[in-house]
Amino acid sequence: MPNEFDLVVIGAGPGGYVAAIRAAQLGLKVACVDRRTSLGGTCLNVGCIPSKALLSASKKFADASNNLSEYGIEISSVNLNLKKMMAKKDSIVSELTKGVEFLLKKNNVTWITGKAKIKSPSEVEVISKGAKNVLLKTSKILIATGSESTPLPNLKFDEKRVVTSTGALELSEVPKHLVVVGGGYIGLEMGSIWARLGAKVTVVEFLDRIVPQMDVEIGRKFQRILKMQGIDFKLQTKVTQGEVSSSGVSLNIEPAGGGTSSNLKCDVVLVAIGRAPFIEDLGIEKLGINCDKKGFILIDGDFETSVPGIFAIGDCVPGPMLAHKAEEDGIAAVEIMAGQTGHVDYNLVPGVIYTHPEVASIGRTEEELKELGIPYSKGSFPFSANSRAKAVNETEGLVKILADAKTDKVLGVHIISPDAGTVIHECVTAMTYGASAEDIARTCHAHPTLNEAVKEAALAVDGRTIHI
Ligand code: FAD
Ligand code: NAI
Repeated sequence: MPNEFDLVVIGAGPGGYVAAIRAAQLGLKVACVDRRTSLGGTCLNVGCIPSKALLSASKKFADASNNLSEYGIEISSVNLNLKKMMAKKDSIVSELTKGVEFLLKKNNVTWITGKAKIKSPSEVEVISKGAKNVLLKTSKILIATGSESTPLPNLKFDEKRVVTSTGALELSEVPKHLVVVGGGYIGLEMGSIWARLGAKVTVVEFLDRIVPQMDVEIGRKFQRILKMQGIDFKLQTKVTQGEVSSSGVSLNIEPAGGGTSSNLKCDVVLVAIGRAPFIEDLGIEKLGINCDKKGFILIDGDFETSVPGIFAIGDCVPGPMLAHKAEEDGIAAVEIMAGQTGHVDYNLVPGVIYTHPEVASIGRTEEELKELGIPYSKGSFPFSANSRAKAVNETEGLVKILADAKTDKVLGVHIISPDAGTVIHECVTAMTYGASAEDIARTCHAHPTLNEAVKEAALAVDGRTIHI
């Protein structure tokens, strides 16, 4: 029967499409439904990929504008063609979303466009504009519907003056002043893009530090670097009200704990105060699927919801809201459905902020180890003493390794450096295999590489760095 499946996956983001492919590899007949007309979810369409494309393009612009004359490269005038920059970003997105289309086809996954509604644990209705509703019969359902931007009360998104990350990826001109509410992943990446393209950027953060989940020492250094790049920070500050006019936005801000309010004017305000699970109109209340207070779908260790046969993964369940975590969830969930032993170690999900320099972390922060009462040794090494960083004149940042004081097992790694998101992966592998700092220290590292700073930080855990 054409509309009968072993598994219907709702959502074709990195969680959903990867799960669909793996399930098909395992021999299941799979359909993947998405309301978008292009595949890849938030990540490919309005998240990871367009933001990284603009981070890269804006870095090239900033380098060409300011940073090349000391190398003897003299450029007399650099002009920004924002329309062309956006078109390049769009073409990168389009190539990748088409690539996912090819992968689904190659693996015999049926792609269906439309809004899915779960009618029962064995029925999914697909509603699409201008077409008849389609009823899919299935043995299992996997919800991978992702997340959406959280709004600020009193400040409605119009995606022109008051924007989510989606609007911030599409601005038609560089704002003179961009206010970013929320000093987290989105705020700092998008803030960096527009600051490099010429905007004055002010980040308003409720707490006393940016990226609050980050190791405090690393967070402080990171903020100092961003400040030197021209980004302004208003910490422990909240936006209480906003008024939008044709000429801009007028925000009322006040100390987080209350006090005298002041006014902040800007052309555009990006609200990036976190994302919430997207489960609208899915029919989950009617089915009695349990969610937590914030609306995240609750699942057991096998990714199954409170309703047997219905599973959930990715941004719509509790845990880090990251594309690679959603992918790992998806693979583990369908392997378990197929009788295998899928598994994800949530302590070992790396996090990367793709600013310049990048910030990458895995495992525990110093603050977490203190709170857990785990005795630890610490080794750090600055990139100012790393020969490759010197050679490319990018010496900001450090590697910090935290290891168990008794066993030397690596418990956390935190890196600020160019390409830290790549550099950290030797530590991700090492920690996955339960390595000690000594294991990393005794691994031969190629010279000259940024990763030699990882080896030196591992040596520093035992107080025996060579190059400092
Ligand atoms: P999503 O990617 O959100 O996909 C869910 C899909 O389900 C969507 O396409 C949606 O249309 C569809 N859907 C929802 N409801 C229905 C329905 N009823 N019927 C049919 N379809 C439906 N993460 C990283 O790891 N690295 C990054 O660099 C990074 N950068 C980001 C930058 C930005 C600006 C943003 C916003 C996010 C970024 N993220 C990044 C986070 C990442 O995008 C998410 O963690 C990831 O996309 C989650 O994957 P998912 O499959 O759970 O959901
Ligand atoms: P976030 O959780 O990273 O940061 C939100 C920030 O806003 C926090 O610092 C928080 O303290 C602050 N905040 C909350 N309420 C506030 C208020 N009322 N006023 C001022 N500040 C307030 O969330 P963000 O940046 O919206 O991103 C959502 C998620 O998307 C991230 O957590 C991450 O999982 C994912 N993402 C990942 C990226 C990556 O991997 N490089 C890039 C972009 C997004």
